Amino acid sequence: MLSASQGALKLCQLAKEMVEEAFHPLDPLRIHESLPAEKSAEILSTLKPKFIHHPKAKEYLAEMLRESGCDLDKTYFDVPRMRTAFPGDYLKSGIAYAFHPHRDTWYSAPFCQINWWMPIFELNSENCMAIHPQYFEKPVKNGSSLYNYHKWNLESRRSAAQHVKTDTRVQPRPEEPVELEPQVRLICEVGSAYLFSAAQLHSTVPNTSKVIRYSIDFRTVHLDDVQGRIGAPNIDSACTGTTMGDYLRGTDLAHLPSEVMALYLDGTEIQYAQAAGS
Ligand SMILES: [Fe+2]
Repeated sequence: MLSASQGALKLCQLAKEMVEEAFHPLDPLRIHESLPAEKSAEILSTLKPKFIHHPKAKEYLAEMLRESGCDLDKTYFDVPRMRTAFPGDYLKSGIAYAFHPHRDTWYSAPFCQINWWMPIFELNSENCMAIHPQYFEKPVKNGSSLYNYHKWNLESRRSAAQHVKTDTRVQPRPEEPVELEPQVRLICEVGSAYLFSAAQLHSTVPNTSKVIRYSIDFRTVHLDDVQGRIGAPNIDSACTGTTMGDYLRGTDLAHLPSEVMALYLDGTEIQYAQAAGS
């Protein structure tokens, strides 16, 4: 767990203000009490991308990394996402997807990736996120062999173009019962962050509280790890493709050098780029 820093507090404050503005004059923690789920989904589908692409979000994130001791010349991050977890069955799919237990490495993330997770409003143990550390060394039968990140992006663009509301894209899931206990529920103050390996099994805790959870997460890789192919062991991921093209250097938002990125390419990026053009 990482204590609050100025950059982190600014990032959380930016997100908080955007949430409050989007749902004004309602209490953003309790919009499920008065707003139809379709309306909330509509507001979130504007709010979430707006946060992701906000220029200040990247600036504050880089500041947070520097204050955390990261070498910005060698630390690359992807854009910060805003997530929500609604109480009960109010809104669980699409724009407010409640994540089943998964490893990010089932979704083409590299094994050196570190996930950063932070709350935007005060958290409690009934609306947070959990990791399931016993599975770090224990394989889980899963559907990652059908997942390719480049194919996923292609399908996303196609479904967006067709204005498809329901998400029919197949996500990698456990294909055997998963023992969710023992679990570590991630709770920290606003401005603090949890860091964990992309290879850790983690999930959205079913929200049994009265209030909505809003959180930020993003991912980093370190150039030396990427170059050295250093990272967690692969015990059960069979996906193809890579998210390496998403990371931006802390200093100037440059992508990873192409010769370094090439270590992770398997040809599927060309296959789906050609499909996109056809
Ligand atoms: Fe994840």
